[in-house]
Amino acid sequence: MRSVKAYAAPSATESLEPITIDRRDLQRTDVLIEIKYSGVCHSDVNHARSLWQAEKYPLVPGHEITGIVADVGSEVTKHKIGDRVAVGCMVDACGKCANCRQGEEQYCLKGITLTYGSIDRFGQPTQGGYSTHIVVTEDFVLKIPEGLGLDVTAPLLCAGITTFWPLRHWGAGPGKRVAIVGLGGLGHVAVKIAHVMGAEVTVLSRSPSKRGDAFRLGADHHYATSDPDTFEKLANSSDLVVNTVSSAMDLDAYMSLLGLGGVMANLGAPTEPMSINAWSILRNRRVYTGSLIGSLSDTQDMLDFCAEHNIGADVETIAIDQINDAFERLLASDVRYRFVIEIASLR
Ligand SMILES: NC(=O)c1ccc[n+]([C@@H]2O[C@H](COP(=O)([O-])OP(=O)(O)OC[C@H]3O[C@@H](n4cnc5c(N)ncnc54)[C@H](OP(=O)(O)O)[C@@H]3O)[C@@H](O)[C@H]2O)c1
Ligand SMILES: [Zn+2]
Ligand SMILES: [Zn+2]
Repeated sequence: MRSVKAYAAPSATESLEPITIDRRDLQRTDVLIEIKYSGVCHSDVNHARSLWQAEKYPLVPGHEITGIVADVGSEVTKHKIGDRVAVGCMVDACGKCANCRQGEEQYCLKGITLTYGSIDRFGQPTQGGYSTHIVVTEDFVLKIPEGLGLDVTAPLLCAGITTFWPLRHWGAGPGKRVAIVGLGGLGHVAVKIAHVMGAEVTVLSRSPSKRGDAFRLGADHHYATSDPDTFEKLANSSDLVVNTVSSAMDLDAYMSLLGLGGVMANLGAPTEPMSINAWSILRNRRVYTGSLIGSLSDTQDMLDFCAEHNIGADVETIAIDQINDAFERLLASDVRYRFVIEIASLR
């Protein structure tokens, strides 16, 4: 065992605080990563506060991890000491179930081992990236292509793959009208990716305050949903709506944006259930669907795509002792557009 410094939520209701956690000794296929940056996802807040389910504490969040390989197990072939690497939301899966065999390990039927908040194959709780080091089996470690900075790459490991997957799968590209709902961590990366894919991109945000940013990120249009005319103006006008909103919303209003056969990819995971009126999918034979992050191979594709098109997240770098304030600011949408913890501040 190796003791490393981290920041953990001691319970669902307390602030994060310094802690020492154990990382397992390197197994034959394990990689030891010295973490450089860890993004702060909206999901980190929901997990830390047990908003989706009761979690086990102490809980070290963080599933947008970039760093450098510090050591490798005796049988590791994919990574070597000094490599620039990344870890996203999952660190293991069964590898044998029907979904894993199709290369969709994020939907492992035995349950994926999340980067934090799961129990690993050794019976130990997993702990995330708000820490100096992590040990991960080599297949779940991604390679960071040349040219992408470790700080702006970190958010791609969750926000990037979560939005890249539906954009690619549902055919964002030339001639497609794509609406991105919610300009936050996921939303701002979605705009960048959809734009370079060649789609006509519309941003729907609650207020006009992010309008300038939306155009700078690559949007062709911006509408404030606080304007009562927006939904009437945009009715039946989109082929794909990528919904990144973090709280329960009037889905029917957003479904009405879809034209014939249009698809809403729901990525947000509100803590409250949402409902949909049957007429919202009967009209225009619309599709309401969702997806969870992406597979390892999709994630590597996304990193390679982002490197090719020079896409990183817009980040505000913080020291680890600012994390509790960052959680509050994230909930208030007061970040442009992702907090990233500089892990050097924890050493
Ligand atoms: N499917 C997956 O695999 C996956 C992966 C990661 C995260 N998630 C989930 O995706 C959601 C977004 O995550 P994030 O990290 O991007 O969060 P975020 O940075 O907080 O962004 C969410 C955005 O949603 C909009 N929003 C927030 N509250 C709203 C409200 N009451 N009504 C309307 N719009 C509202 C805001 O955009 P505007 O200010 O522009 O309106 C906000 O910036 C979260 O629920 C998260 O848990 C899912
Ligand atoms: Zn996330
Ligand atoms: Zn499986």
